[in-house]
Amino acid sequence: MTSLATSVERSETLRTDVAANPGRYRVLTGERPTGPLHLGHYFGTVAERVRLHDSGVDTFVVLADYQVVTDRDAIGRVRDNVYSAVLDYLAAGIDPDRATIFTHSAVPALNQLMLPFLSLVTEAELHRNPTVKAEHAASGRALSGLLLTYPVHQAADILFCKGNLVPVGKDNLPHVELTRVIARRFNDRYGAVFPEPQALLTSSPEVPGLDGRKMSKSYGNAITLSMTADETAAVIRKAPTDSDRRITFDPVARPGVSALLTTTALCTGSDEHEIADTIGDAGAGALKKIATEAVNDFLAAHRRRRDDLAGNPDHVHAVLREGNRRACEIAEQTLAEVRTAMGTMY
Ligand code: TRP
Repeated sequence: MTSLATSVERSETLRTDVAANPGRYRVLTGERPTGPLHLGHYFGTVAERVRLHDSGVDTFVVLADYQVVTDRDAIGRVRDNVYSAVLDYLAAGIDPDRATIFTHSAVPALNQLMLPFLSLVTEAELHRNPTVKAEHAASGRALSGLLLTYPVHQAADILFCKGNLVPVGKDNLPHVELTRVIARRFNDRYGAVFPEPQALLTSSPEVPGLDGRKMSKSYGNAITLSMTADETAAVIRKAPTDSDRRITFDPVARPGVSALLTTTALCTGSDEHEIADTIGDAGAGALKKIATEAVNDFLAAHRRRRDDLAGNPDHVHAVLREGNRRACEIAEQTLAEVRTAMGTMY
């Protein structure tokens, strides 16, 4: 398996080439619609997607609704989560005329790629995938067939549109690696159909949640993009801090205080230590006031655009329908190529 250092280095070279030759790349990326998007998504993935899209790279975003049930039984408010994510993408600057936003379950031909792809990997390879192992352990449940084959599903997401650039966090690197293996084996066995996609490691920092752990809806420590300014103030007010009035940046000893400093730093483009020095010994109340203002100022324009879009649900539905139509057209084309290569066109 490729080391993280090699992947980081490769991503730097790749970034330069993408900037110089955006027309050579098709980005496929996405997420599981398990909850509303939050600041962690914004800094971690959404901002990078918008940057790539703005630089002229053809962009596909999958809302992987089938994958919601990889590590849980409850599908949850998947429909609301999908619409909410579309609102956030549009508000963040993804132009639906130049990008394709689609849902997994609406593209049957994409899902059909699973069958030939599954024949190209062994059970041992699937069991070795570190991300699947970690997610299985965290789920506290029996390993489902869907979770075990999750990386193959992700390969189908990427390869159906011949995506060759996949911006991911390091958790998803093993999936991209397996996607390359699947593409290579398919091409070797049946003839050249697929590109071998490259992972573009997201360079942005991990955003801490309000308790200092990774920001995640399931930890209840997230500031979502869709919150109002007042709701944001309320969750920050409730964030755990400590009674030391002197504000210092120390993520290990003071996770809550430090998380608020990092959040403020990200939203204002400044440095945690400088913010801490400015607050001095004014205490956690002053820090919370500054953090609230920083987040609300940073998200104000996004939230305004989001509210405007939410006032026109027909438009949002139309964006998703058009994305699904486009994705279906491409998936059918690719499936026809696959079946031709395999000799199963009748
Ligand atoms: N597995 C990804 C996640 O949960 C989401 C995802 C689904 C994805 N299909 C993808 C990411 C294809 C990149 C490419 O984070």
